[in-house]
Amino acid sequence: FQPKLLKGLRVLITAGPTYEPIDPVRGVTNLSSGKMGFAIAKAALESGAEVHLVSGPVSLPTPLEFTGKVNRTNVQTAKEMMHVVANSPCDVFFSVAAVADWTIKNRQAQKIKKTSEQSSPILEFELNPDILATIAQSSINQRPFCVGFAAESENIEAYAQQKRIKKNIPMLIANHGPSTFGQDSNQVSIIDELGIFPVEETNKLAIARVIVAELAKRLRP
Ligand code: C5P
Repeated sequence: FQPKLLKGLRVLITAGPTYEPIDPVRGVTNLSSGKMGFAIAKAALESGAEVHLVSGPVSLPTPLEFTGKVNRTNVQTAKEMMHVVANSPCDVFFSVAAVADWTIKNRQAQKIKKTSEQSSPILEFELNPDILATIAQSSINQRPFCVGFAAESENIEAYAQQKRIKKNIPMLIANHGPSTFGQDSNQVSIIDELGIFPVEETNKLAIARVIVAELAKRLRP
């Protein structure tokens, strides 16, 4: 592993889930521990990058080696994450977060009371911004090199290649199934315009290092 692969580059990473409140004590979220995003942050730091980690609510502590080196911003909702990302210029954007596709339109300012056994609240959903697709559409001189992540449960590689093209991003990491959520190991394929490259199943930090090395090859051939 070469320590200077991303030297001098500003790397922005989103990690974890987002949390969309229903009322002050309840909400809707996604399954994501944040481990893969944190591993990417660590691998990017090791490779000399200037790292900004934007994290949804996770129970992971900030690793000691991030102290004074990684700028961490905590957010809750997808809109907050969008706002931070849109205001953080970078050279590389790793969109690892499991962003909630919808937010609650009829969010209540006070806790919803259980009034009777029969009546249940009806939630109205509203589409959240697609953070990655938005950044990938920035004007060419402001657009970072974007890396997306996708968890698919079937037909992984075909769906992931379609997703890469639809989101207009040069590189996408396909997760082989939702069984890796919260785990320390992962099995992924790296997908770009040249094809689909499987990475052997290993721990998330080792995978992150492979991804960073592959990214560096494409950025600085
Ligand atoms: O379309 P799908 O959600 O499967 O795409 C996953 C990729 O898009 C991930 O990289 C994720 O971080 C990003 N994404 C996003 N904003 C959304 C939904 C997904 O940035 N609202």
